[in-house]
Amino acid sequence: MTVTKALTGPPLTRDEAIEKVTGKARYAYEYHSQPDTAYAWIVTSPVAKGRVLTVDADHVLRSDDVIAVLWHENAPHLGDVGDPTLAVLQSPEIAYRGQLVALVVAKTPEAAREAAAQLPVEYEELAHDVVLTPDHASLYKPEKVNPAFETDTEQGDPDRAFDASPVQLDQTYSTVALHNNPMEPHATTAIWGENGSLTLYDSNQGGGVVQQLLAGLFELEKSQVHVINPHVGGGFGSKGMPRPNVVLAAMAAKVTGRPVKLAVTRQQMFSLVGYRTPTIQRIRLGAEADGRLNAIMHEVVEQTSTVKEFAEQTAVATRMIYAAPHRRTSHRLARLDVPVPSWMRAPGECPGFYAFESAMDELAVELGVDPVELRIRNEPEVDPETGNPFSSRNLVACLREGARRFGWRSEPRAPRNHREGRWLIGAGVAASFYPTYQMPASATASVDENDHYTVDINATDIGTGARTALHQLAAEALEVPLEQVTVRIGDSDLPAAGIAGGSMGTRSWGWAVTKACRQLREEGAKSVTANTKKDIEALGEYTRGSYGAQFVEVRVNQDTGELRVPRMTGIFAAGRIVNASTARSQFIGGMTMGLSMALHEEGLIDPVFGDYANHDLASYHVAGCADVGALDIGWIEEADEHLGGAGTKGIGEIGIVGTAAAVANAVFDATGVRVRELPIHLEDVL
Ligand code: MOS
Repeated sequence: MTVTKALTGPPLTRDEAIEKVTGKARYAYEYHSQPDTAYAWIVTSPVAKGRVLTVDADHVLRSDDVIAVLWHENAPHLGDVGDPTLAVLQSPEIAYRGQLVALVVAKTPEAAREAAAQLPVEYEELAHDVVLTPDHASLYKPEKVNPAFETDTEQGDPDRAFDASPVQLDQTYSTVALHNNPMEPHATTAIWGENGSLTLYDSNQGGGVVQQLLAGLFELEKSQVHVINPHVGGGFGSKGMPRPNVVLAAMAAKVTGRPVKLAVTRQQMFSLVGYRTPTIQRIRLGAEADGRLNAIMHEVVEQTSTVKEFAEQTAVATRMIYAAPHRRTSHRLARLDVPVPSWMRAPGECPGFYAFESAMDELAVELGVDPVELRIRNEPEVDPETGNPFSSRNLVACLREGARRFGWRSEPRAPRNHREGRWLIGAGVAASFYPTYQMPASATASVDENDHYTVDINATDIGTGARTALHQLAAEALEVPLEQVTVRIGDSDLPAAGIAGGSMGTRSWGWAVTKACRQLREEGAKSVTANTKKDIEALGEYTRGSYGAQFVEVRVNQDTGELRVPRMTGIFAAGRIVNASTARSQFIGGMTMGLSMALHEEGLIDPVFGDYANHDLASYHVAGCADVGALDIGWIEEADEHLGGAGTKGIGEIGIVGTAAAVANAVFDATGVRVRELPIHLEDVL
């Protein structure tokens, strides 16, 4: 079949679909099983602050199956790559409960696990502080927020404009810690070659960064490290950077001279691979009686660790989403004895929009205005923060199309107005947004004597369908049928490309693939390597982003508080959609994760032990099929000539943005109860 350029591409099945469903697709832990392969098991700290005094390795080394025990006194010295979370087993200091303190290597995974459980470790324990409060003594202003945004911004005189506004809203919203739970836990198989080279089958969102940092840690040339990851079972941001597993596996393989496999257990993931910081967000909105905003203030308190700073950009998207002449955003961090927070699907926009889009709903109630209409009235002409034009901005189109498809009642909210027997029924709406990023990438396109084309790029398919989308874009640019093209990804020997993160993977890789393929066709060459660095630098000054509108229906049982979401509608405007099927799945996945955030997922900190008390999938509930009703997904056909490359924006993260607010807003509409702390519990609505 020939692919032709359309704003929505065909819903092709994933290239690797059969491999995946037949179990042929191999993941990091499934390589290199041979008689001399060894298995490593992580030992973590039961104390939240202190230091390791002694490890009695001999106690477990008595077993014939145990090969080695590594801890800070005998672990190989690592080079400094500027990331303290990767300086594993280099120091006795313990900065959080669940931090790794030792590694057991054995002939079987069972023996490694048993020895890890029995390993005697003595600790000095110090007092810890793990509870985030709005006025925590350690609060400070980080230099920048993720990845490099201004920490605070201010335009006009927001305090005065707020005070002078006839309608005012001043509320505080909070979110809990949320934990990344990709289906495939973090895992690595590491093998050292005789020539000092290191091969890593590693589960990550980008092998290039693993290659670079592992080379630094083990003081190797980049070319000596080979990272292979053709299939990755999800990441949600937690695999965006190398995690301790890859360093430990390489270390253990070096010490034992054997191939080593290491999988982080589901329980260990809750402290070792990052999580979404809890937030406390104060929002003030000052409006005219007709709903036009005068003042927007969004002030955020969140947590970081003592090991490494992570400053989530929670209020950054608030800077540009609606028009208002007076505005302020700020971020403050409390440095606690907690695991290191990090990226989780739409870091910043996701918790920020829960709070902000809840506040917009509260304002609509206060004003007696339809919440859809309130948003339309505050639609900016240009980016209110920078004054730049939008490359395209179809939020209003998403709101209107979503309202139509959902069957939205265009009227002011009147809670507890709809019921069926003992069930209260409500509907909620929220806007969503995700910025359009891009990073330079290289790709090689070549053709053989049989007119078969091969496209090479070190892209990563974390389950999104990126491989298939690149295949479609390559065939389109080459103007040949898909069958005539092979796409190779997931290997650091292929041309360098950035991570599957920031919703910019397919956009950035697709750009390089399209460029290389077009050039090959136009030049009639045998092989062409293209790089997009200069094209990306030449992008004009536009604000680029994907927009969306989420509509949610909830049903709340008046007697039990049972809360159900029978249906959700999400309409998005995200540039060209390369593959209608895999794109739809991204939106569904994002919205499902947003629903899960609204109602289920809750990292509960235990102040006594200093850890997240629920760290498995039994006690930390991630929405399952029975929690999700009908999901209606659509998008606006959007041609945006200022995007460059293949004309795509990002679709991986926007689905989660706004969903939790739409659920909370629907809960208010059903019950009259405004919940300002996620997740929403049954007892909140009784
Ligand atoms: Mo995503 S949290 O940018 O991998």
